[in-house]
Parts: sequence; C-alpha cells; structure tokens
Amino acid sequence: MGSEFCKRILVTGGAGFIGTHTVLQLLKDGFHVTVVDNLDNSVEEAVDRVRILAGEDLSRNLVFSIGDLRNKSDLEKLFSETRFEAVIHFAGLKAVGESVAKPMRYFDNNLVGTLNLYEIMGKYGCKKMVFSSSATVYGQPEKIPCVEDFDLKAMNPYGRTKLFLEEIARDIQKADPEWKIILLRYFNPVGAHESGQIGEDPKGIPNNLMPYIERVAVGRLPELNVYGHDYPTKDGSAVRDYIHVMDLADGHLAALRKLFTADEIGCVAYNLGTGRGTSVLEMVAAFEKAAGKKIPVKLCDRRHGDATAVYASTEKAQKELNWKAKYGIEEMCRDQWNWASKNPYGYQSKP
Ligand code: NAD
Ligand code: WQD
Repeated sequence: MGSEFCKRILVTGGAGFIGTHTVLQLLKDGFHVTVVDNLDNSVEEAVDRVRILAGEDLSRNLVFSIGDLRNKSDLEKLFSETRFEAVIHFAGLKAVGESVAKPMRYFDNNLVGTLNLYEIMGKYGCKKMVFSSSATVYGQPEKIPCVEDFDLKAMNPYGRTKLFLEEIARDIQKADPEWKIILLRYFNPVGAHESGQIGEDPKGIPNNLMPYIERVAVGRLPELNVYGHDYPTKDGSAVRDYIHVMDLADGHLAALRKLFTADEIGCVAYNLGTGRGTSVLEMVAAFEKAAGKKIPVKLCDRRHGDATAVYASTEKAQKELNWKAKYGIEEMCRDQWNWASKNPYGYQSKP
C-alpha cells in the first residue's frame, strides 16, 4: 500500500522494543519513516540494525532524529521540515513499579509529551494518529475476555497516563472531527524479529516476565520468581494474553490502512491480543522447550496489583482492521530465545 504513495509516517519512540519491529514492517511495506526518540530507554544501535534488516534500498527511506516530545521545539523542527501523513506514537515510559515511585516523571513524560505532539500535529494539519494504549486500561477485569466497550480503570500512575490519554484523544477528536485516532490496546508483547537481530532490551532488572526468563536462560539472573501459585487458574499461576511483537507490528500496519481508507473513524479502540490465555508456568515450560534448558523457578507470593487472568476479545480488530495474530507461544519463545542467545547482553557487547 505505502509504495504507491510514498507516505511518510512519524514514529515516536521508534528506537524501542515495539517501535523497531514496527518501523521495519513499515519500510518493507513501502512507507517512508521518520523516527523521533530521546533514547531514554533505547540505543541508536537498534535503529542501525533495523536499517541492516531493511536492506540498502529501503533503509534510505528511514530518517532518525534524536528528540524529546517534551520539547516542543524538537517537534516544531520535524513538522516544519517534513510533511507527515500520520503519526504512530509509541514514545512513553512504561514501568509500572517506577510509576508508583515517581508519578510526576510519568505524568510529565507521557502526558506532556503527548499533549505537545497533538498540538504540533494539529498546527501542521496532520490529524491521523495511532496511539499505543494498553490492556492496563481494563484494570483487574471482572469478566474475560476483555471487550473494548468495558468500563476502564487504572491501577497505578502508568495505567492512569494511558487512561487519561485515551480520554484526551476522545475529547480532541470530538472537538475537531477532522482527527482520526486509533487507540491500540496491546496485551503482553513478547518475542522478537525472526532474524534475532532486534528484540527487547530493558535497562536494569526486567519487570516483565519474558525478559526476566530470558535473563535467567542466558545466566545473567539465577532464577525466576513466579509471583503467585494460588490463583484460581489451571496451575495456580496467573494467566495473560502474550502476543508476538511481529503480530503487533502488523497490527499497526492494519491500523494505518484503516486511517487511510475509512472515512468515519472518529476515535476508536482496538485490542491487539491473541484471545488466548497462558499461565506463567506454561510460559516457563514453553521457553524451556525452545531453549532446551531448565529455568529454575521460585514460587513466591502474588505481586501487588496483579490480576488473576487477562486476555483479549479479538473480534473487533478482526472485523474492523482485518487483523488477527498469527503466532502462538511456541513461536514467541523460539524467537525470543533466538534473540537472547545471539544477544545475551542485548544491544551491548558483554560489559
Ligand atoms: P520502549 O521503552 O522499548 O520504547 C519506548 C521508546 O520511547 C523508547 O525508545 C524511549 O527512549 C522513547 N521515549 C520515551 N519517552 C520519550 C520522549 N519523551 N521523547 C522521545 N522518546 C521517548 O517500550 P515499548 O515496549 O516499545 O512500548 C512502546 C509503547 O507501547 C509505550 O507507550 C508503552 O507504554 C506501550 N505498551 C507497551 C507494552 C509492553 O509491555 N511492552 C504493553 C502495552 C503498551
Ligand atoms: C506477567 C505475569 C506476573 C515477572 C504489564 C503491565 C501492563 C503492560 C504489560 C504496558 C504476571 C508474572 C512477572 C516475574 C512473574 N505493559 N511475573 N515473575 O503485569 O501482565 O502487564 O506489562 O502497558 O500494563 O502491567 O506483565 O510481564 O509484568 O507479568 O511471575 O519476574 O508474569 O506476576 O502474572 P503484566 P508482566
């Protein structure tokens, strides 16, 4: 689709985990891409690897700009020099625990950064947006699967930024119907590009399950703490909807396609998940199989604020975006291990 029109897309946070995989797919689909990232939670090496994977020809269509969404001048510079057809907005902080300890950092970065972005987009007449929301807006859901029209709630400051930003998007679109905004609620993104050249590389000790398992597998951490073994689930551990990052990347292309082809979009939310629930212990077993090694586990108390089971209803995305996840946990673990075994220290060489 992109190649016919050479549409240029601004991808904020495009050096990060989901951003890099999405940028690669955009380039392969013929889009021109500008990434803006302040490298707060990423490294430029990740963008360099995207260039290599895209190949010489397509990588000419990628521009990388170091910039911070909190600085309006960084955005002014980008929009005054280049015409963007749409924005995919990944940039944000995402660590739940850190957001409880430092709420102001989260409100400043996620809220102020996004408000600046809407302001400058509006000023330059770019009114098509794909926003990274999260399953966190369902809080601890009373029913599963989570359906897009459920009541929303936040459990922590990070979740509140996503909830507020969804509400803000709805208000902006209501006030000016020229805006088309798609809110994508990701469930639990995992895995890596099949090449093993790009993947998730969190700084410090990982908060999320899969990067933690990966660090145990490569010998950087001794064992996995399994938070909760007395949940009313099949094996006592909590259940989540893990989704391969390449499926997620393709979900963004489907959202863009909708932005460019449908008239009446307004501001609309879609779940991006597989619709299948997997327990922590099932995930550990699948990873052990993919890596061919044992992951030592310690059964621990539940983690504060965790839900028992969360998974997506996938009907709306399937029907309206014509998108459906292709990969299961076997492929997610295979590709995550491929990335981890090739890059045990992430984008760094051994420190
Ligand atoms: P990530 O940290 O790997 O990527 C985010 C990128 O944004 C990083 O490269 C970071 O340097 C950049 N950034 C942060 N603040 C910025 C700012 N003010 N200006 C410019 N760049 C900035 O995270 P990710 O996993 O790729 O997540 C992308 C988005 O998806 C985030 O908004 C996150 O909240 C959301 N999300 C992630 C998950 C998940 O589990 N990974 C789940 C649901 C939603
Ligand atoms: C998954 C399961 C843990 C680590 C978070 C955010 C959510 C979204 C995705 C951004 C849970 C268990 C984990 C460990 C464990 N992010 N676990 N040992 O909590 O479902 O969602 O990331 O929007 O907003 O809240 O993901 O990967 O942290 O945990 O047992 O070392 O693994 O208790 O049951 P979660 P997670």
